[in-house]
Amino acid sequence: MKKRIIAFNWKMNPSDAKSASALFRFASKYAKQPIIVAPPFVYLPLVSGLKSKLHSKNIFLAAQDAFVGSSGAFTGAISPAMLSEFGVSYVIVGHSERRYVFGESDQLIHAKISGLQDFGITPILCVGERKKSSFEASWKIVKNQLDKDLKHAKKNNLIIAYEPVWSIGGNKPTDASHSVRMISKIKSFLHTAYSIRVPVLYGGSVNCKNIDKFLQYNEIDGYLVGSASLKKDQLSCLINKVI
Ligand code: PGA
Repeated sequence: MKKRIIAFNWKMNPSDAKSASALFRFASKYAKQPIIVAPPFVYLPLVSGLKSKLHSKNIFLAAQDAFVGSSGAFTGAISPAMLSEFGVSYVIVGHSERRYVFGESDQLIHAKISGLQDFGITPILCVGERKKSSFEASWKIVKNQLDKDLKHAKKNNLIIAYEPVWSIGGNKPTDASHSVRMISKIKSFLHTAYSIRVPVLYGGSVNCKNIDKFLQYNEIDGYLVGSASLKKDQLSCLINKVI
């Protein structure tokens, strides 16, 4: 069976540390194969401690963002080195909520990716069009993001997540055939333009009910899951089906 990646983005959830601990313990019980969990920054020390205590060797920690450099006068920012101390091996970069709620530019996203790659942490770069439109119009947007965010980065320690923004939210319509086509296009573009072959995930309202329509496509290397990752029944079901 194809080895797939599944990454759970908790976003700004759950609302207290006790619930974060319970969710992590639950995920740890079901992770018979490697999974990636991205809790909010403040829970990283807690889950990192639990990971050691529970010997959760199949859980890899991700952060939901990171800044550039190692230290300095950057209020509110966290460096790759700080994350690494808590065992973080992946960082989500350029998520649509960072781009459009926090106004992050492609220039900043590029700097974050380079800094993380140089540090040895794998960025999970999110790309995707905001509005549902034709494949050609969507590809133009995605290609522009890839060009600007990666520039001429030729490093293989990278994961791409194709997340059409219109499908993010947990309960939005998804279009598997559009996404598979886009994922194939991203892969061939990265190979021809940058000579790199990296995993490309799908993200956007993935849940246990709709996952089957994506699983039939070998082109999809895995999934970035938001809302469903906070519900225990969804979490266990997705882990069982995807990996
Ligand atoms: P969703 O979020 O699964 O809630 O749509 C996915 C994401 O934003 O990465």
